[in-house]
Amino acid sequence: MVTNEQAAQVAAKVEHPACRFSVAPMLDWTDRHCRYFHRLLSENTQLYTEMVTTGAIIHGKADYLAYNEEEHPLVLQLGGSNPADLAHCAKLAQERGYDEVNLNVGCPSDRVKNGRFGACLMGEADLVAQCVSAMREVVDIPVTVKTRIGIDDQDSYEFLTDFISTVSEKSGCQDFTIHARKAWLSGLSPKENREIPPLDYPRVYQLKRDFPHLTMAVNGGVKTMEEIEAHLVHLDGVMVGREAYQNPYLLAEIDQRLFGSDKPVKKRREIVEAMYPYIERQLANGSYLGHISRHMLGLFQNMPGARQWRRHISENAHKPGAGIEVLEQAMAKIPAHLDV
Ligand SMILES: Cc1cc2nc3c(=O)[nH]c(=O)nc-3n(C[C@H](O)[C@H](O)[C@H](O)COP(=O)(O)O)c2cc1C
Repeated sequence: MVTNEQAAQVAAKVEHPACRFSVAPMLDWTDRHCRYFHRLLSENTQLYTEMVTTGAIIHGKADYLAYNEEEHPLVLQLGGSNPADLAHCAKLAQERGYDEVNLNVGCPSDRVKNGRFGACLMGEADLVAQCVSAMREVVDIPVTVKTRIGIDDQDSYEFLTDFISTVSEKSGCQDFTIHARKAWLSGLSPKENREIPPLDYPRVYQLKRDFPHLTMAVNGGVKTMEEIEAHLVHLDGVMVGREAYQNPYLLAEIDQRLFGSDKPVKKRREIVEAMYPYIERQLANGSYLGHISRHMLGLFQNMPGARQWRRHISENAHKPGAGIEVLEQAMAKIPAHLDV
């Protein structure tokens, strides 16, 4: 439970520009359609791209930096460990209008480990500092780091503080998001690495106390508005991943609860209808409904009719020619008397 005094502390903190609430970068999930949808739910939430590797940006055929203008404030998350490549990509990000660039020092997948980036970089604080310095030299937008509390047997508090002090002092990085569990680089899948190592929030709170001049956000296992507010008593920001994706209506009250908005909280049905013009435009450009609607499946979570909503979309959105009528039919599965 958050006491009145703590709630006042949160209110004071959210007026401070450093207060952050974000939806985590998630590969295959937080694509541009997902971010457009999340933006309709909250104007102030910071949205992250999926991790994009420097190799994809530099050598890839597709435009990996494309996004919709409505997505701001938007952070590009980069994966890489070559300072010159990262600097090049950070510069492109700034030119394309991104609000911030974030370096991934938290992803434990094997593919990433072999490329020498992601969580394994926690063991190479000097290299991370060089990467961040190189990026900061060529851009004015903030360059931030997302990391874990440790890797493998390097999981002492000292290891974590050494990493943070090296990176912040040598590169000038001011802003860290800490996934409050360590990563096992071998033996666990990326999915297991998001579930098995235990969460340790007190360690992240301690880090903020020991580095009060740095902006610190916590990530990992946060599911409710009450939990978000409780973390903000200790920290500058909170990042939510899976819950925001699976239960996106969590985002609907963020502007009112954390950012002092006095606009009415939007209803779920309004959000669906607000997606129609976007969907029509995307379909006209050759996208498939299923690529967009898959991010909306959790919108009615815990409501009567939620299962039928999901099922109707899952069974119909991939069919050739499927359009917004599929969403209209799916919405008709939610009982009409519910004002949601
Ligand atoms: C499907 C999926 C993909 C992810 N991809 C990334 C990624 O690209 N970059 C990253 O830093 N973390 C990635 N993560 C980790 C999340 O950003 C976050 O740190 C993790 O899910 C813990 O937060 P949560 O408990 O709120 O989900 C991913 C997580 C999921 C579930």
